[in-house]
Parts: sequence; C-alpha cells; structure tokens
Amino acid sequence: MSFSNEEKRSYLENLNEQTLLGGGEARIARQHDQGKYTARERVEKLLDPNSFLEFDKFVKHNCSSFGLEKQKFLGDGVVTGVGTINGQKVALFSQDFTCWGGALGMAYAQKICKIMDFAIENKMPIIGINDSGGARIQEGVESLAGYAEIFHRNVQASGVIPQISLIMGPCAGGAVYSPAMTDFILMVDKTSYMFVTGPEVVKTVTHEEVTKDELGGAHTHNEKSGVAHFICSDEDDCLERTRELLSFIPAGNYTKPTKSFTTDSITRENNKLKDFVPVNSKKPYDMKEIIMDVIDDKHFLEYQRDFAKNIICGFGAVGGNKVGIVANQPAVLAGCLDIDSSTKAARFIRFCDAFEIPILTLVDVPGFLPGTTQEYGGIIRHGAKLLYAYAEATVPQITLITRKAYGGAYDVMASKHIKADINLAYPTAEIAVMGADGAVNIIFRNELKGLEGEEFDKKKASLVKDYEEKFANPYKAASLGYVDEVIYPENTRARIYKYLEFLKDKNEIRPKRKHGNIPL
Ligand code: HXC
Repeated sequence: MSFSNEEKRSYLENLNEQTLLGGGEARIARQHDQGKYTARERVEKLLDPNSFLEFDKFVKHNCSSFGLEKQKFLGDGVVTGVGTINGQKVALFSQDFTCWGGALGMAYAQKICKIMDFAIENKMPIIGINDSGGARIQEGVESLAGYAEIFHRNVQASGVIPQISLIMGPCAGGAVYSPAMTDFILMVDKTSYMFVTGPEVVKTVTHEEVTKDELGGAHTHNEKSGVAHFICSDEDDCLERTRELLSFIPAGNYTKPTKSFTTDSITRENNKLKDFVPVNSKKPYDMKEIIMDVIDDKHFLEYQRDFAKNIICGFGAVGGNKVGIVANQPAVLAGCLDIDSSTKAARFIRFCDAFEIPILTLVDVPGFLPGTTQEYGGIIRHGAKLLYAYAEATVPQITLITRKAYGGAYDVMASKHIKADINLAYPTAEIAVMGADGAVNIIFRNELKGLEGEEFDKKKASLVKDYEEKFANPYKAASLGYVDEVIYPENTRARIYKYLEFLKDKNEIRPKRKHGNIPL
C-alpha cells in the first residue's frame, strides 16, 4: 500500500510536532517553574529570528539497558544546528533537561560531535548550552566514550574557532571538562553550577558541609576559582551577553575582525585625562576610567570582571577597530601582578592572538606581589605564563605606560623588548627598576647610615628627588627607543586609532614548530 503525498506530509508534520515537546509538557512546566527556559526556547532567543536550521531532529538512542528501550525522545535530548547572531553564522547545541535530565548518551554525543565538526570545517563559532545531569547512567561506558569524543574535538577546535559555553543548569563530574576547554564560560546566577564532585561526596571525603551554590555556583566560579568569565543575572541576560560577546570576535582564526559601527569621533580629545593620573605615585586611580574615555561609545565588555581585579581585561573598539584590552588596575593591590592576574590576562591574550584581535595594554604596575603565599603558590611559574603569552603574540600590539612600569613587570607588560609594535608613554610615566624610595634605601645605604631624625629625612628626601628626576620619567626609555612616543593624555584616543590603522596589515611570521611549551 502506498501513501499519498498529503499523508507523507502529515507524517512529517506529526514528527516535527513531537520534537517540539522534548520530554513532555509536565517536564517543560517544571523547567519553567525553576526559572529556566527549555533548550529550544534558549536557541530561539539567542539566534536572529527565523535563522535556526536544526540538524538531526529525529535521532534516537539505541540503548536497551535498564528499560531505556521503552523510552525514546525524538532528538535524544539535545537540540543541534546552525543559525545567525547579528548576521554572523554560528553553530550550537542546547541540552534538553526535559529528556533524562539532559543526560548524555552515545547518539546525543554523536549529534554534538557532528555539529562541532561542521563548525570547524565551515569556520564558525560553536556555542554549547549546558543543562545536564551528566553521563546517561543507563548507557554506561558509551556515555563516557561520548564525552571523550567531545573533549577531543574541543581541543582540535581550540584556536581555530571560538568556543563559548553557557551554563544554564547542572554541569557536574567529568562533564565540566568540555566547557573548561572552551574560550568563554558564562554562568547564570542561582540556577547554574559546575563541580567535579557534588556536596554529598565532598561531605563524605572531607567532612565539609557546603551547598551546591557555595561549591560551584556562578559567584564561586566568577569570583573565587576563575573558572567562569561572565556572571549573568538570569537566562535572558546570559543570552544577551553571548550576543554582545560575538559582536567582538571573528568567525575563526586567520579571519580579520570586521569593523564595528560608531558615531564616536576619532579626533575627540580626552580632556578628562589631561590631569587624570595623580602626581603622587602612591595615590590610586581607576584605570577603567581611562579605558572608558578612550574606547568607542564607552562600550567595554569586561572579561572576568570579578576575578583578579588588579588586572582588567575585556573587549572594546577604537574608531571601529576591535581590540582586546589588558590593563593594570592601580586601584586594587596597587596594580601588582600576582598569580591570578597573570593567569587571567595570559589566557585572554592568547585568545586575542589566536583570533587576530589587536591587543592594547595599559601599564601602571609596581611589580610582582611579594610574599610566601605568592612564592609557594608558584608566582614564578604563573607570572611566566603572562610573559610567554605576550612574547608569543603576533597580533598588532600597542602599549601605553600611564605611570609606573617597574622592574620585571615593565618587561612583562608588552614591552618593546618582547615585541610590542608601538610603545607609548604619558609624561607621568616612571620607567625604572623600582620605586624611588626602595632604590634610595639600597643604593645610598652607606650615605644614610648613621643619620637620624631631621638630618636623615632631609638627606633621604634630596636623594629621592634626585632619583626621581633621573629615572621616574619616560625620557631615558624614549632616548633609547624603548618608548616610541611620549604622548599628551588628551590625545590618547586619536593616537591609538592612528597606530591601529597603521598596524592593520601586520603579518609577522615566526619559525615553524610543533608547539611551544608554555609553563603550565
Ligand atoms: C539518566 C538522569 C540522569 C543521568 C538525571 N536523570 N540525571 N537519567 N542519567 N545522569 C533523570 C532523572 O531520572 C529524572 O527523570 C530527570 O532526569 C530529572 O532528574 P531529577 O533528579 O528529577 O531532577 P533534579 O531534582 O532537578 O536533579 C537534577 C540532578 C539529579 C541534580 C542532575 O538528577 C542528579 O543528581 N542526577 C544524577 C547526576 C549524576 O550522578 N550523573 C552522573 C555523573 S558522572 P524523570 O523520568 O523523572 O524525568 C558523570 C561522568 C561524566 O557525568 C564523565 C565524563 C568524562
């Protein structure tokens, strides 16, 4: 017996309708009650309207253990496909918690692998929306194999296409390692969590009592561990932040970023910055104010805003040229480099370098943070990551020293010697081995020995003044060509714009090697 065209169409319609139901209405209602969207709703809200093309809607698992053969959901619990965001092509997968709690089996993993392969081969960012109870227990080792297949692709995709993970529910056990290998992790406050072992295992092993949120919630990973890069107040905020992030990054490696639109004049003077940097070099100021005054439309997308606040990282644009900004923050820990700020900035720099995003570095750094906590924690190894990342980068690099650039930190923070392209300084810059006070104590120890009271203070003040005149300025470095130009602060935006334009076609080729060995 053959079917009419109409019957065939209605069969397809019926299947399509079934896919929309995921794990059924009751489970969808439960998802909504928890303040969460369904997998499909998230895709619809994230992508440009009507741009989604879904792959593998009718895939089903093949497992017959523990009664699973009696329970099959069309699509197998994950929605995959391609679409556009602000017109830019993306590939994505969205885990459906209404089907076995979003748990991953072999067919499900194969769908994710297929869309990842598609994204790599066709050069577009891959976005993973995570909301899952982990390995589908009934499928045993096949789910573990599925995870490993995804991990392998995460590594192959690294540095080739941007990878973005949205955590919108549970993400636990070994499953955390797929997002961990992606470039950006966005977490939703209160409804998402990530941990290797949950509170019950923690209690059994270490006797610590901790809630899910304390152990692996959005605040924990954005403020304490540095695992996540963005904290979002709710799911809408998370989807909007993802769209914003995509507006700064290209589709893949060896793809120059497109120019962004702005009406902000490139000849606008930074009048606010004229006397902004305090004369007293011990006085803090907020480096973010300089960033905001320089970039287009004050639009700054900050990366790891709540982690290692002594360094600022994020995306902005100058005259439509998108840049990754790395800046010491004198308002926190006097802008010292420490373990967390070094690893934070190193990873950000490596992302920018992999994806052709020029790096703008703003420097006000008194050095590396002293102390046993830092030394025992391996500041040598972690600080080296930052040095390595800067020295490895071949994208256009502009460095501006606003005030202190002392010691090893001067070298590390995109100095001329590790191949930044343009090195600028404000007249307030102090480029020296160390601050005047410390330097005088060491080099004039003998002269100061034996002096007391007023006599000591007078002598020391005169030695400090002398040292400051000689070294606490940018002119020695400028006379050696280590600083290309000492600029007036009010011209910052116009200067950076011009240099970015001149560096646009930079093409630096390094000797061939398999890969370097960054100090991990
Ligand atoms: C199969 C699962 C499942 C899983 C949940 N479900 N997790 N099915 N495999 N891993 C099912 C439930 O049976 C339930 O089915 C539905 O999903 C929703 O789960 P609930 O427990 O009702 O939801 P909730 O109360 O919100 O709790 C969510 C949860 C919890 C915290 C994720 O379900 C949970 O703890 N699940 C087990 C997590 C786990 O141990 N996974 C394995 C981790 S090891 P019904 O039919 O009632 O809707 C791992 C290794 C990965 O993942 C290794 C990679 C290398």
